[in-house]
Amino acid sequence: MSDPLPPSPSVAAKPRSHFNNWISAIGGVVAAGGLFSFFFLAWMDLVKGDKNPYLGIFTYLVAPGVLIMGLVAVFGGAWMQRRWAIKHAATPDKWRLDFSNRAQRQRLVAFGVCAALFIGLSAFGSFQTYHYSESTQFCGQVCHQAMNPEFVTYQRGAHARVACVECHVGSGAEHFIKAKINGTHQLIATILDNYNRPIATPVKNLRPAQDTCEKCHWPEKFAGNIQVDYEHFLSDKKNTAYTARMLLHVNKSAPGSPLGGIHWHVNTTERVEYYAIDDKRQDIPWMRVTNVKTGTAKVFRVDSFKGEPPADRIRVMDCIDCHNRPAHVFPTANDAVEKSIAAGVISTKLPNIKRVAVQAMTQKEITTDADAPTKIADFIKAKYTDAALAAEVPGTIAEVQRIFGLTIFPERKADWRVYPNNIGHKDWPGCFRCHDDKHKTASNEKVRSSDCNSCHVIIAQGKGAELETLSAKGLKFKHPDGEPDAELSCSDCHNGGIQK
Ligand code: HEC
Ligand code: HEC
Ligand code: HEC
Ligand code: HEC
Ligand code: HEC
Ligand code: HEC
Repeated sequence: MSDPLPPSPSVAAKPRSHFNNWISAIGGVVAAGGLFSFFFLAWMDLVKGDKNPYLGIFTYLVAPGVLIMGLVAVFGGAWMQRRWAIKHAATPDKWRLDFSNRAQRQRLVAFGVCAALFIGLSAFGSFQTYHYSESTQFCGQVCHQAMNPEFVTYQRGAHARVACVECHVGSGAEHFIKAKINGTHQLIATILDNYNRPIATPVKNLRPAQDTCEKCHWPEKFAGNIQVDYEHFLSDKKNTAYTARMLLHVNKSAPGSPLGGIHWHVNTTERVEYYAIDDKRQDIPWMRVTNVKTGTAKVFRVDSFKGEPPADRIRVMDCIDCHNRPAHVFPTANDAVEKSIAAGVISTKLPNIKRVAVQAMTQKEITTDADAPTKIADFIKAKYTDAALAAEVPGTIAEVQRIFGLTIFPERKADWRVYPNNIGHKDWPGCFRCHDDKHKTASNEKVRSSDCNSCHVIIAQGKGAELETLSAKGLKFKHPDGEPDAELSCSDCHNGGIQK
């Protein structure tokens, strides 16, 4: 091994560029990696049809961030080098990058290999990032800790296999950009930890249903009558079962003909519009039905609403006005407990357990996620001190703790009390927001289909053997607690278990 050659006079004579230093060189590689990732992600973003705002965060925020960091290092290195050179004009410049210096050459080769590796890895990294950022895991857990309640409830719904982005982002340039800006905004709110608790609903800039729901479900598809059994248990000592078996008239008409029945609202010949006073769209004083072909319109209003609604607040009714909780339903405490009783996990041997379990879940004292299990256990234990029941208590407590964890999120302030479900009319106004006999046209015409048999028929009701005799014509609803005052709406009394 011979000694390294002395620096050649010609090179030594040329003044060293300030960019010629290791910090700038590393910065250059980092910047190249960032730039490369940016082009790669931007290309994926443009070429791929499935638009995703979180990919946008990486493309337009993280990758340029890396690029800028690299550039800062390039120029910072040059600046430091300049200061160093002025101060140490006399000392030998041994950190100069110089191919004619053997030791330097070895370092440069090693550096070159590392740089190539880094850029290669950044390509791989951005590819992985691309895939990861569109996964449900990412939406629900990593970026969107804030959305944990939606993530938890989503996993038990009909759409558990449908990715969040299918409904929340969809495709199309305009909404894509909106979602992207929104996504960035959300990222900042998450980092600053100042997002709303609960996250506000309805989502203002959600994609129109034609671009999301109707990609998978088409309104013309004939669904006919759907049978649903609503299994309840009363708050009496025996936890008496009460079930309504119903046929819901989703479409009444023959396949292929215009929609009639519940899905009439999304038919192609008529358009339903409405105006809601409140942000949650619960209080609807005005609506209009327009025949799309002839342009003739019918306006319904409640007596107390005079004047015209603000034009920018009129909403065209679509799937989401009824199916507003298609993927992440927050069941009421009442419904969650009844499901567990029906499944036999909460024991009906415990007197009044229906009421006790609902009360345990809705105690005002529960304020954090962590103290819920003990408070639930203490509450239930205190009610069942009888030794004869001891065997039933632990399993029931465990089940109530479990359903609480899946449906009520005290720290996020998220549960059914803030997320109304508009599909029915028992616990929230739902259909009765419009179908309530109070909306009339100028000529006093009421909204059709507001009597009990127009949306559904009860084919059997009660318990046990009573449910086996079906009536095709439909039964008059036998309210388990006696006939309520006709002036009252179901949701005036039923609220899912909120304690007053
Ligand atoms: C089948 C379609 C669909 C899927 C899949 C879906 N959502 Fe939603 N989501 C909606 C609709 C519709 C709303 C708006 C409700 C409204 O406007 O009243 C909504 C609202 C929200 C809200 C606002 C708060 C609320 O609960 O109303 C959040 C947060 C949310 N979704 C997160 C998620 C996350 C996270 C995922 C995936 C784990 C997901 N969503 C999957 C349709 C969907
Ligand atoms: C990517 C496809 C996809 C999209 C987008 C989608 N869904 Fe679904 N939907 C499904 C699948 C799959 C099922 C489950 C079918 C099953 O379980 O048999 C389903 C089931 C349903 C059901 C039946 C629910 C139940 O409990 O059985 C309703 C109602 C529904 N979707 C409404 C909507 C609405 C409203 C939207 C738009 C906000 C929407 N879907 C968007 C695929 C989709
Ligand atoms: C007026 C309210 C309303 C509107 C608007 C509405 N639906 Fe429905 N839909 C219902 C009701 C009620 C049911 C019966 C099932 C239930 O109660 O959950 C239902 C049932 C369904 C089902 C289940 C059918 C089955 O075979 O299980 C799907 C899917 C569905 N709707 C999709 C949609 C889509 C997509 C749109 C928009 C194009 C839409 N709905 C608009 C009220 C509505
Ligand atoms: C925003 C107001 C609004 C909401 C909410 C609403 N509807 Fe309607 N619905 C209407 C209007 C308006 C009509 C047509 C009334 C008329 O022309 O007399 C109608 C008509 C109907 C019809 C008759 C369709 C036919 O075949 O002629 C049915 C059935 C119906 N609605 C069921 C429901 C159900 C079920 C819900 C709840 C899941 C619901 N509606 C929610 C406004 C609404
Ligand atoms: C505008 C349409 C409409 C009208 C009018 C209507 N319902 Fe309903 N009803 C529904 C829908 C939709 C559901 C299903 C909700 C769901 O899927 O959770 C329902 C559900 C029910 C249930 C089962 C609820 C449960 O959780 O057990 C009962 C009972 C019921 N209706 C009784 C009545 C009675 C009594 C009347 C007359 C005062 C009436 N309905 C009028 C649309 C209607
Ligand atoms: C005056 C208040 C009041 C009104 C109005 C009312 N209910 Fe009830 N309902 C009760 C009470 C009280 C019970 C018994 C609760 C229990 O035992 O847990 C009950 C029980 C029920 C049950 C069985 C148990 C349960 O908790 O689900 C159903 C289903 C039901 N009502 C449906 C309806 C429907 C549908 C309407 C509207 C058409 C309605 N109720 C209107 C007070 C009312």
